[in-house]
Amino acid sequence: MPRSKKFHTIKHNLPPTVLTIFGATGDLSSDYLLPALFNMDSQGLLPKNFKLVCVGRRPFNSKQYLDFIVKKSSIITKLSSKTKKRFLSHLTYFQGDFESVESFKPLAELLADRENPKHECYNRLYYFATSPQYFASIAHILKQTGLLMACQVHERKVRILVEKPFGFNLKSAQALNKLLLKYFSEQQIYRIDHYQGKETVQNLMVVRFANGLFEPLWNNRFIDHVEISALEKDTAAARAKFYDQTGALKDFVQNHILQMLSLIAMDEPGNLTTEQIRDEKFKILNALKLFDKQGLQSNIIKGQYQGYAKDVEDESKTETYVALKAFVNLPRWQGVPFYLRTGKALAKKIAEVSVHFKEPVRCLFPGCAANVLTFRIQPDESVHLQINNKIPGFGVSLHQANLDFSYKAAFAGKITSAYERLLLDFMEGDQRLFIRSDEIEAAWKFIDSITPAWKDLPLYTYKCGSSGPKESAEWIKKDLREWWTR
Ligand code: BG6
Repeated sequence: MPRSKKFHTIKHNLPPTVLTIFGATGDLSSDYLLPALFNMDSQGLLPKNFKLVCVGRRPFNSKQYLDFIVKKSSIITKLSSKTKKRFLSHLTYFQGDFESVESFKPLAELLADRENPKHECYNRLYYFATSPQYFASIAHILKQTGLLMACQVHERKVRILVEKPFGFNLKSAQALNKLLLKYFSEQQIYRIDHYQGKETVQNLMVVRFANGLFEPLWNNRFIDHVEISALEKDTAAARAKFYDQTGALKDFVQNHILQMLSLIAMDEPGNLTTEQIRDEKFKILNALKLFDKQGLQSNIIKGQYQGYAKDVEDESKTETYVALKAFVNLPRWQGVPFYLRTGKALAKKIAEVSVHFKEPVRCLFPGCAANVLTFRIQPDESVHLQINNKIPGFGVSLHQANLDFSYKAAFAGKITSAYERLLLDFMEGDQRLFIRSDEIEAAWKFIDSITPAWKDLPLYTYKCGSSGPKESAEWIKKDLREWWTR
């Protein structure tokens, strides 16, 4: 197929914006946020009047900060002097201590100064990219220093974007929601899950609801099970301290995997408004069957890669691999298991959502296999539908082949990165790909039903570069199934 179609790029006409990033010297900023902003700048996707304020605790001027980012980033290797100059024209580095309101008073003056020369009002966007322990004090600083103040000339929007982890259990997530809702309305809060920004994750809803073919089959009469696997090759070494306090269940399942589950299981929303989409996703998350102690033993496998203790410089019981079987307690999904799996230090990086249909009740031919619809989230973004075909020649024997749609084969150009997409939506004021407070809390309620007995579950080890603990393959085999994503 000719790669004639170009990616659809929307011409944004964004209002004057000042984006302030708290936590601008951290890994998230150097590896995701700044690279996304450089890209957007070079593609002309940033607002015409755009200012970026990067806040950190280290003493830098703006140029030193930019050099520091380029050196630190695992993504940006070099910036041409032209790009650097253009980017510096947007950028101001600000040194502040997240625990001191006093140290942020000059920031309020700086933002006001930025607006003054032309008497323009800039939308004020704040990105909470620090460790979560500072979220409360940053919200407080914004309030105390007048950084949330309205503009005299015309309407100004103030929004905040909050990074994950959003809490570490239901109670702390509720407390954080309560605290943020004291200062901001729900419409001002953008809780990020960067998987929502991935094209292939957005495509889950499109394929389901734009094709009449699937919806009649999308239930327990025709679907045998669903698998969501997000496997990673990297170890946890680069973020050992954070990871060791978090583990695979809270780092990946609570957010990215449960969000994908909500999209693959939700009912069709009445329309494409933020609230209708969120309502449908929430219904799924809220209907996840909670675990009891007995259920935990037979429905969860956890593992840790060999050598993890060396990475975290300690003996540790933190899981780097988890596989679990979840159920959605709604009529459509009664009895359909959702196998969820993620892990670090595995053979390769791959994420897929696969929907496994039931085998035909009676197969006329020998060797029928079930149809499987696979959404390859990354890499090699694509969708595959496995069907049975006749092998050419005499007699009838079957061969399973895929009907394929590959982004690379169908479209020229590069897919917009998740962070670029989400930053643009943040600037535009589109909350559809961000998470509502009740979704986050429902996801934590599910995870909280697992954690009390977490320590009592066996922790299996596996070799780096393998497919995970052998117990995981044996576990799913007991259900007469096997892992699809490899
Ligand atoms: C983050 C997790 O949210 O997502 C990391 O904290 C994980 O542990 C990362 O590696 C994976 O993101 P991606 O986009 O590389 O699949």
